[in-house]
Amino acid sequence: MTVPPTFSVIPGAQVRQVLRGREGEVVQLVESAYRLHAEGHSVNPPSYFLRFPDRPSSRIIALPASLGGTAPVDGLKWISSFPGNVTEGLPRASGVLILNDPGTGYPYACLEASVISAARTAALAVSAADWLSRDRTRPRRLGVVGTGLIARYVHTFLEATGWTFDEIGLHDIASESVVGFRDYLYRSAASGRTTAHENAADLIAESDLVLFTTVASEPHVHDPRCFAHGPLVLHLSLRDLAPEILIGSTNIVDDVEHCLKANTSPHLTEQLTGNREFLAGTLADVVAGRIRIPDDRPVVFSPFGLGVLDLALGRMVHAEVAGSGELTEIPGFFDELTRFGTDREPTPCP
Ligand SMILES: NC(=O)c1ccc[n+]([C@@H]2O[C@H](COP(=O)([O-])OP(=O)(O)OC[C@H]3O[C@@H](n4cnc5c(N)ncnc54)[C@H](O)[C@@H]3O)[C@@H](O)[C@H]2O)c1
Repeated sequence: MTVPPTFSVIPGAQVRQVLRGREGEVVQLVESAYRLHAEGHSVNPPSYFLRFPDRPSSRIIALPASLGGTAPVDGLKWISSFPGNVTEGLPRASGVLILNDPGTGYPYACLEASVISAARTAALAVSAADWLSRDRTRPRRLGVVGTGLIARYVHTFLEATGWTFDEIGLHDIASESVVGFRDYLYRSAASGRTTAHENAADLIAESDLVLFTTVASEPHVHDPRCFAHGPLVLHLSLRDLAPEILIGSTNIVDDVEHCLKANTSPHLTEQLTGNREFLAGTLADVVAGRIRIPDDRPVVFSPFGLGVLDLALGRMVHAEVAGSGELTEIPGFFDELTRFGTDREPTPCP
């Protein structure tokens, strides 16, 4: 008889415990998963956006995916973005990650996903910062536009993988976010002198690595002159930059088909220009040496965020928790396991 399928739940505390202090390893894992995807060993359909007419700033996104390679896994990230949460003292994003067994299709784990999502996002951003700055002077002046949770993760991953800064500029439309981020920088003994900027343009002009992690739904930075010094831009929030800025930059994305959707800045640029010529290519093209990054114009990395990266990290977390003997299995989760039935009573609930 086949082994009955099991189902476990991994709370955020266990996810954080596994990932704590392992930023370098997470970057390598995420890079490998991204490489597998770029080589065609994945299925990563478009994300599905559930939107609400009565709550236009909120959404829940489904990211189904299948990752191949030596440790294949299927699954789904189901992640909410409710920007209003932060005024209530709750993070914007919350979610779950379901892992499915590629042999039977049975889901075998449900993991808290906001930490996995933030970690994989930061890991790919750090990988991009590294690859995209190899042919230019390594940035030493970081500017952060939108100083929330994702910005914190990216900064933590940067410092943990060897980046140090002389200056860290901060800008946010909510002054309490700047105060909170400054406090985080102080607590983590971050390198660099911190300056708060009243507007994004000043901050960009004084930074050579610019991180966008806002919740802006449409472009709010329009003037290409702010980028005249050619900074490296990690455009994680995807909708901050007007097409004029992208047109004057070297544009790198994680996945072309994913990124040119959902009114991202690259999508708006494609609509304006009627073509994709403004795109230089993907991060995979850079890693493979198919694209050289010029050092005399801005470089903008716009990653849409791929479900396969969540799966890779979720699979690793599950394996670590299982290996430590701390996995919380739900007895009887799959209880109807005979096609034609038996007289057996349902498994008693714990
Ligand atoms: N590309 C990816 O793979 C990926 C993955 C995860 C999250 N994200 C994106 O990262 C962004 C940040 O997420 P978070 O969890 O840190 O959110 P958050 O709510 O914790 O922080 C966002 C901050 O941006 C500020 N902000 C909003 N509009 C602004 C503007 N016009 N100028 C300056 N600041 C502004 C807010 O006041 C807030 O402090 C979101 O847009 C999210 O969708 C991208």
